[in-house]
Amino acid sequence: LNTNLNEKKEREQWGSKIGFLLAAAGSAVGLGNIWKFPYMAGKNGGGAFVLIYFAMLIIVGFTLMMAELTIGRHTQLSPVGAYRKLKAKWAWVGSIGVLAGFIILSFYSVIGGWVIKYIVKGITGAFAGVEATAFEGIFVNFITSPAEPLIYHALFMILTLGIVFGGIKGGIEKYSKILMPALFIMMTLVMVRSMTLPGAMEGVKFMLKPDFSAISGGTILAALGQVFFSLSLGMGTMITYGSYLSKDENLVESSFQIPLIDTAVALIAGLTVLPAVFAFGFDPSGGPGLLFITLPAVFSQMPLGSIFAIIFFVLVLFAALTSSISLLEVVVSYVVDEMNWERKKASLIFGILIFLMGIPSSLGLGVWSNIKLIGGKDILDSMSFLAENVMMPLGGLLLCIFIGWVWGLDNAYKEVTNDGKVKFGLMHVWGFVIKYVAPIAIAVIFVQGVFFS
Ligand code: PFF
Repeated sequence: LNTNLNEKKEREQWGSKIGFLLAAAGSAVGLGNIWKFPYMAGKNGGGAFVLIYFAMLIIVGFTLMMAELTIGRHTQLSPVGAYRKLKAKWAWVGSIGVLAGFIILSFYSVIGGWVIKYIVKGITGAFAGVEATAFEGIFVNFITSPAEPLIYHALFMILTLGIVFGGIKGGIEKYSKILMPALFIMMTLVMVRSMTLPGAMEGVKFMLKPDFSAISGGTILAALGQVFFSLSLGMGTMITYGSYLSKDENLVESSFQIPLIDTAVALIAGLTVLPAVFAFGFDPSGGPGLLFITLPAVFSQMPLGSIFAIIFFVLVLFAALTSSISLLEVVVSYVVDEMNWERKKASLIFGILIFLMGIPSSLGLGVWSNIKLIGGKDILDSMSFLAENVMMPLGGLLLCIFIGWVWGLDNAYKEVTNDGKVKFGLMHVWGFVIKYVAPIAIAVIFVQGVFFS
């Protein structure tokens, strides 16, 4: 025992290939897919948004996924240390990621809390026999009240840090292996129910038929931001998860599988939410309330609706948790790697700090609703805009420049192919996109969307 005392602790690793895949897909699949994607599609012309989303996914999604995993696995370090190891002057880029993780989790947990509240409502039968028009009032009353949402926010945070406490194999991987398969099963069940409702096909058509008149520069930035958010990219989450990978893992395969799973879940969520909305004659452009107002109203009118409501919100909770643990892990791994803290202490202290940071986002919907930060947005929307539409694209842009122009494509090629052992036919296309296409596309969309729309 004594001989080990002064040695650096060995870095934990994922226990299995499937464990890593489920954890990484779990990070990607979250509120972004189930809550945000359907309402963004609803607001931005249905199929038109889906098409732009696909374009962004192909140009930046796969590319950056591979880029982050490559850097993480190569350095075996969380983002700040990873950048520092490759080029000391770039360490600050890693810190943007840690800060983004902190900010995103602070409001993500508030919304995660709403999901728990809706599970409780479902179980206590609070949805049964309620008029369809009453759900808006119920939701608004809840989120604008000062104390109750904070209790659920705390609860969500406790679940999140409880999992991160257990570390990579014994926490994140263990729970992802339970929660993700459960999510797939429940999701399929609810989708089949939704798509077999009379009139459901209108919703399917809406998602597949593009209305291009609903598209503007803002829509394109929104779709880009959504790709970053949905795939957990641009802030080092996948660098962090990649840092726990062994040298013989196939990065090329994983970089395709994770985005494919994520996109499949977003589409399934769209095909669950929108057909139900159309079948009962609601408006698909309901915005953020689609999940908490429109859907409960739909469930209340469906045969066996309360059971489907419970299943649905439980699956949303599972999706949210496998994402929130990855957000906390970005922060925790930074504190563990850079400040040498114990994992448990880091999870607890930073879990509490992030909880506190989320309080204004929650209060900003009610008692502090007169506070507007960015462009007239309330606190929660401002945080989300700052993280998704500014910090993540910026982090992604810098990552491309770093790999293409600083660290160098040859180094990246070596790592991504395990020193030439893994076949990767599109390797040079990937390099070209990282070096030229993705940074230019991100920069143009970013400048256009933030300053001219
Ligand atoms: N990808 C998650 C979602 O779609 O809900 C959100 C997220 C998780 C963003 C982890 C960023 C992150 F690092």
